[in-house]
Amino acid sequence: MVKQLVMTAAAIALLGGCASSSSTLYEELGGQAKINEIVENFVHEIEYNNTILPYFADTDIDRFIQKFAEQLCVFAEGPCTYSGDTMEQVHGGMNISEADFNLTVDLFINAMNKANIPHPLQNKLISRMTHTRKQMLYL
Ligand code: HEM
Repeated sequence: MVKQLVMTAAAIALLGGCASSSSTLYEELGGQAKINEIVENFVHEIEYNNTILPYFADTDIDRFIQKFAEQLCVFAEGPCTYSGDTMEQVHGGMNISEADFNLTVDLFINAMNKANIPHPLQNKLISRMTHTRKQMLYL
């Protein structure tokens, strides 16, 4: 009986290990469809925000949607390649303040909430996104 229990525990541990190593954040989020939904919601959030919208005055929004979705896919370890410009190239010259950076992250969180992304997954994605923070502030 005790032996059986030990074996069951070992099997569960093994299965648990397999499950976590084989699933990427991309899969946990719900794949490209969910990433596209987040990006679509994010664009709406930007559209309705008077502080952040002016940054996008001259932006080709279709390109932004495509490149931003690609980058999120890469951050989530999905099957994508980022084909856009570097964060310095894109955001250099915008002189983005810390407050506006944080506000943009808040808009992104709203977008994830509206796509019903669970908070632990939101935190993972945000931490992978915001490591680029220093590459874009006050440039
Ligand atoms: C959370 C960190 C951020 C990430 C990961 C990020 C990522 C990106 C990506 C991937 C693109 C598309 C690049 C391309 O077209 O090649 C982009 C474009 C852009 N981003 Fe960000 N961004 C971030 C924060 C911000 C902030 C805080 C602002 C302004 C407040 C901003 C304003 C813009 C604008 C205006 C464009 C379009 C540039 C253009 O028209 O060429 N971004 N961003």
